[in-house]
Amino acid sequence: MNKERKLIIAGNWKMNKTVAEATDLLADLTRDLAAVKEVDIVVCPPFTALQSVSKAILETKNIKLGAQNMSENNFGAFTGEICAGMLKEFSVRYVILGHSERRLYQKESDALIAKKASAVHAAALKPIVCVGETLAEREANQTEKVLETQVRGSLAGLTKEQIVETVLAYEPVWAIGTGKTATTQQAQDAHAFIRRLLAKMFDEAAAKKVRIQYGGSVKPANAKELMSQLDVDGALVGGASLEARSFADIIKNSI
Ligand code: PGA
Repeated sequence: MNKERKLIIAGNWKMNKTVAEATDLLADLTRDLAAVKEVDIVVCPPFTALQSVSKAILETKNIKLGAQNMSENNFGAFTGEICAGMLKEFSVRYVILGHSERRLYQKESDALIAKKASAVHAAALKPIVCVGETLAEREANQTEKVLETQVRGSLAGLTKEQIVETVLAYEPVWAIGTGKTATTQQAQDAHAFIRRLLAKMFDEAAAKKVRIQYGGSVKPANAKELMSQLDVDGALVGGASLEARSFADIIKNSI
């Protein structure tokens, strides 16, 4: 597939995988994906498995490591939090921010996500900033309004240089873990809307460089059609990234 931007496909393992399971999964992925050069591949294990996966990843050239969250602070009395310096010890390159589960359960706001995004960039890491509407919001025709608020709020304060090093993930909340996928048209429309918005916030050239992933029940069977859309530049995969076969097939089917 000849795309304007290099595809980036990330596996979000969420709160799954012990250290032993994580290293096994990585070993299988390394074997299955060794020949793939066309896609930036990222795996995001839980914090507890970062160290062991990081060691295994050093032997692979084409799989990069991501974290699922990060503190906006650099050190100090923040019980339970993990900062950029700690992630960098394990060669983490990407950090997922503002996933809808954190927006919902940890009440993360756009303003907090923006602070985290700045901290991620300050540490020379790359954020994957998630946005997406709920079913009620879509049915009330609020999708674009919600996306605009989230995109403007979560990226507030970033520079043009930083936005081109930022990945966005459009994840309609109603499609996450539900088996319901946005139609390719719904995905393309939302991605194109986000890119037009980025052009207004930054400029056309910067907006053209930003990669926007789709997330929400991505599977081997629907990956190709989704990735063929003009403004879909990759995927953020949850459930189907927990098994080597399905994650590898998503990547191979997207090429
Ligand atoms: P899913 O999750 O692929 O299981 O729908 C996607 C996500 O939450 O990033």
